[in-house]
This record gives sequence, C-alpha cells and structure tokens, in this order.
Amino acid sequence: MIFVKANDYDDLSRKAADLLYDQILFKPDSVLGLATGSTPVGAYQYLVQRYRRGELDFSQTRSVNLDEYCGLPEDDPNSYHTFMRQNLFDLVNFCPKNCWLPNGMAADKGAECKNYDRLIRSFGGIDLQVLGIGQNGHIGFNEPADCFTMGTHEVFLDQQTIRDNARFFSSPQMVPISALTTGIRSILQAKKILLLAGEEKTEILKKALFGPVTPRVPASILQLHPHLVVITTGTVTGNVRGN
Ligand code: F6R
Repeated sequence: MIFVKANDYDDLSRKAADLLYDQILFKPDSVLGLATGSTPVGAYQYLVQRYRRGELDFSQTRSVNLDEYCGLPEDDPNSYHTFMRQNLFDLVNFCPKNCWLPNGMAADKGAECKNYDRLIRSFGGIDLQVLGIGQNGHIGFNEPADCFTMGTHEVFLDQQTIRDNARFFSSPQMVPISALTTGIRSILQAKKILLLAGEEKTEILKKALFGPVTPRVPASILQLHPHLVVITTGTVTGNVRGN
C-alpha cells in the first residue's frame, strides 16, 4: 500500500491525474476502471487540461465504469452515463465505443451483469481502477453486507448512500433505490488501484485500511491488493498490512 498525502483537493486531483496520465502514456490502450461521485472530478479536469494542451491521447483508451443507477435512462441528468460524458468522455477524444457503463435500464439485470463481467474479462481485466469511498465504506456500490459479492450485481442502496447522494438530486425521494455495480472480483483483479479520499473520509479510511477485513466495511478488502495507491487529504496513520 502506498500512501500519498495531498495538501488539498487540488493537489489530490493533480496527483491522481498524474498517475492516470502515466498509465495512458505507458499503455495507450489501457483499460481504466472509472468512478463517478465528487472526488475524482478534479482529476478528470486535470486530464481534460492536459488533453487540450496536446499532451494526452485517449483514442485507444478503454474505460469501464464501476456502476450505474437502476431506472435512470442514459440521458437522465443524474445518470452516471451523463456524469461521465459531462466530466470526461465528451471533453477529450475517448472513442464512444470504448466507454462502458452498466445498463441500469436493462430488462434482464442478471444477464446485463454477466455480460459486464464477460466484457471486463475479454479486455484481460482492468489496468488501473479509480475508486472513491462511501462514508459507509462502500466501493463502487458494494454496500456493507454479510459477505463480499464477487461479480457485477444489482444492489439495494444503503440508507446512508441514499442520504449522501441526495445532494445530486432535487430530493432524497428521487435517488434510485438500486444500482448495478461491478463486484469485488473485477476491482481486486485490477492491476493497480487508485483510491481517492478527501478529509471528510478520514474516519472510514482508517477503518478500511487498518481495521479488520470485513464485508461490513467493503473497502477493507483493498488491504489485500498488492498495488494499492491511496491519495488523501486527511491524516491517516496505522499499521499497514505487509504487502
Ligand atoms: C461512484 C462510486 C462511489 C463513490 C463514493 C464516494 O462511481 O462508485 O463508490 O466513489 O460514493 O463518492 P464521493 O466521491 O461523491 O464522495
């Protein structure tokens, strides 16, 4: 586990963008596992800036997003499809056919989940997975539960997640109650993981990275990953598991 202390959100974003930049430069057809939410927005902005300066080419890069709400059409202002188009995909030269998110409108959610896992496998897995962390320790929408779910699946959102994400909607009642999320297997099989967390996540980050590995704190499974980079503006100390 590599810890990087960022001075502030701008520094966190620049450092995260640097790692993504290196990844794309080193392997232009990288498979990126991308996240939505507020935390990675600044990193995406830095990537857009570097693209506009001619320093970055996304034409061969592939991306598979972590999750999507169920019941929101792709063009809904709150869908993660829209989020990704507005914050990254439409602002750089990503090829639309190389940008994947689960289809939360699929009539057969089980088949959609299997296809999403098959797609990620067909790419040979994810090269660099970007993650935020929920206040309840979720990664993607892998919510606290009695066991880790390995594959992409439909999940009913935790009340805490609904409360936290209500800020993006006109009212908490508008937040979808379920989502499709990649499971723990695709995340853990990523060659590298980049976990981003602002200061407001310090308590849950400590639990996740230095507490017991438990599905009650889904991000705790990241302790087992051999190439985890954590960039945080918070002060987090503890005994790092040897890897
Ligand atoms: C988003 C996602 C979530 C967020 C998490 C943190 O695709 O999968 O796990 O990363 O909820 O969200 P923010 O960054 O808004 O605090």
